[in-house]
Amino acid sequence: IINMKISNLLIQWYLSNKRNLPWRKTLDPYKIWLSEIILQQTRVDQGTAYYHKFTENFPTVFDLANATEEEVLKLWQGLGYYSRARNLHFSAKYIVNNLNGEFPSTYSEIIKLKGVGDYTASAIASICFNEATAVVDGNVYRVLARYFGISTAINSTKGIKEFKNIAQELIVAEQPGTFNQAIMEYGARVCKPQNPICDTCELNNSCVAFGKNEIQNLPFKEKK
Ligand code: ADE
Repeated sequence: IINMKISNLLIQWYLSNKRNLPWRKTLDPYKIWLSEIILQQTRVDQGTAYYHKFTENFPTVFDLANATEEEVLKLWQGLGYYSRARNLHFSAKYIVNNLNGEFPSTYSEIIKLKGVGDYTASAIASICFNEATAVVDGNVYRVLARYFGISTAINSTKGIKEFKNIAQELIVAEQPGTFNQAIMEYGARVCKPQNPICDTCELNNSCVAFGKNEIQNLPFKEKK
């Protein structure tokens, strides 16, 4: 099937091209959670420094829970969107006080944490617990919209559902975390917003937007 092809190609590409990033050396859900919250509104270069700072100062969820809000916010300084730091701290205390310090292990439990939405819950559940929950971030929207030639607005209710469904169909059940990171990484490194590397893209012969010269027009966002 055609779906097999794109999913497996992405995984193959990822396994030989992935960046050596610090959070890819661990399956500790606490650390994956930290990394995904940091990366939500922050570029990888800047995020990496903060990931190191946080994991060195607070190596476990207990350390984060025991810190004062002042300490947490001080370490977060420079990253912006400070509610992320407050929610991290709040949820760390919740995990320690109500869950015995054990990080929740399913998508439906993880998403209950304050500050954790569909994207973060899917990332943690797939990477740390092998649950086949598809992540959809800006990178994923771009790869899917271009490859399948989908012009549904990515900021519409219809579009959000449509792209989530497609990602969920493509996810490789045996390696959900690897697939999710592969498609995000492909969007960040090859199928980029500007100057995507279509010439040598492994998917260019079946990419609808490439075939129709529509790369620059996708993904589509509606003005609100
Ligand atoms: N962007 C945010 N989290 C990521 C991850 N785990 N892999 C690749 N890109 C990402």
